[in-house]
Amino acid sequence: MQLTIFGTGYVGLVTAACLSDVGHNVACIDIDASRIAALNEGKIPIYEPGLKELVIRNAEAKRLSFSTDSAHGVRHGEIIFIAVGTPAMEDGSADVRYVQAVADTIGKHIESYKVIVNKSTVPVGSAEMVDARIRAVLNARGSNVEFDVCSNPEFLKEGSAVEDFMRPARIIVGTSSQRVREAMQECYAPYNRNHDKLMTMDVRAAELTKYAANAMLATKISFMNEIANIAEHLGADIEQVRRGIGSDPRIGYHFIYPGAGYGGSCFPKDVRALAKVAHDHGHQPELLDAVESVNERQKDQLFAKLSLALDGEIKGRRIAVWGLAFKPNTDDMREAPSRALLESIWAAGGTVSAFDPESMDETRKIYGERADLVLAKNADEAAKGADALVICTEWKQFRVADFEWLRQNLRNPIIVDGRNLYDPERVRQQGLLYLAIGRGDSL
Ligand code: UGA
Repeated sequence: MQLTIFGTGYVGLVTAACLSDVGHNVACIDIDASRIAALNEGKIPIYEPGLKELVIRNAEAKRLSFSTDSAHGVRHGEIIFIAVGTPAMEDGSADVRYVQAVADTIGKHIESYKVIVNKSTVPVGSAEMVDARIRAVLNARGSNVEFDVCSNPEFLKEGSAVEDFMRPARIIVGTSSQRVREAMQECYAPYNRNHDKLMTMDVRAAELTKYAANAMLATKISFMNEIANIAEHLGADIEQVRRGIGSDPRIGYHFIYPGAGYGGSCFPKDVRALAKVAHDHGHQPELLDAVESVNERQKDQLFAKLSLALDGEIKGRRIAVWGLAFKPNTDDMREAPSRALLESIWAAGGTVSAFDPESMDETRKIYGERADLVLAKNADEAAKGADALVICTEWKQFRVADFEWLRQNLRNPIIVDGRNLYDPERVRQQGLLYLAIGRGDSL
């Protein structure tokens, strides 16, 4: 099929690369000329395992192209995906101005029937809004071209985006039109390996499904962080509790890892946006508000534990930080718990020596060159001579640590572990003070 994707951000680029890889002819359109120029040279603006190879392979095969020409984009696609950003506004609600701009562009250039797909995470009612905007532009043009708008939310995770797209648990399409259903079925047919993954439903239900899924997962995490904090007060080990409850299939093992709080571009933004929309419609979302506030509190846990270990004396001390990205296999630092930690250390007069396998450039972009931040070449360099070590991200390479070396090379033998990577007994036997999350060490 001929497909067009507006937006070459995370979702747009992964969607385009994966759809071209199964044989569709995909045109990507973005208003950012420098981004398009870079993509045409095979330069991928984000780090995502497998994505670069996919983009290069399909661009070479002429199944994937990048351009700023939106008129061409509208002509090219039988299906046109809107996958532009919906950043959070000051009050927490989603800013849909980029979605609106694409809708206006489509209205301006559309000459024949198109299926228009909202893939961005957009508030409930957005498909109707896009429909109305296109219709208004068409009316002004005196045109009566037909089109349909549907919702097709994306559920991929950063770090395994390609894999998630290629093997989806489900493909949600919100539409009441048979024509749209057939077009989307054809588009996604290659991903239906053993059974039909495509689920159609009402458009508003599809839009809410996206927020509900993220809010549910965020709730699981905040719940576990709450229990972890209780476990600390009770002298119980949350990791044993986690295995105990996860074995119940009604609960399951996924997304019950306690930690330093959830971050990233989705959970924090989507939980807030859903809560805001509920408030605006006269419903008090008590649970969602609590999920958010538990998470904010959790992000302060690492600094609180560090202060405890250093008797409140952070000023003039250098803290080693392993992991800066909001999770492994990405360079994304958006709402990363590491940022709350770094900023608290600096506010208390301490300095940081940090290492992350992928997000050093991102860190430099956010914080610039500053005397109280050393970006080390590797994990050992960050830790050597530091007053304590704090682990923020569970990169694989941090899972195996040389505790003997750490005891000798840290100025104080202190590890604060925000990801529960190690067996507390083992670390303590090596003569290190080990403060993890919910492992019996009460604040
Ligand atoms: C999340 C969802 O998992 C995707 O399904 C969704 O498509 C995406 O948001 C989106 O809306 O675009 P993502 O933000 O990439 O994906 O990352 P996750 O793997 O879900 O992790 C989010 C945060 O939760 C991370 O900070 C992670 O460390 C934390 N987390 C996750 C925990 O603290 N504990 C867990 O058990 C799992």
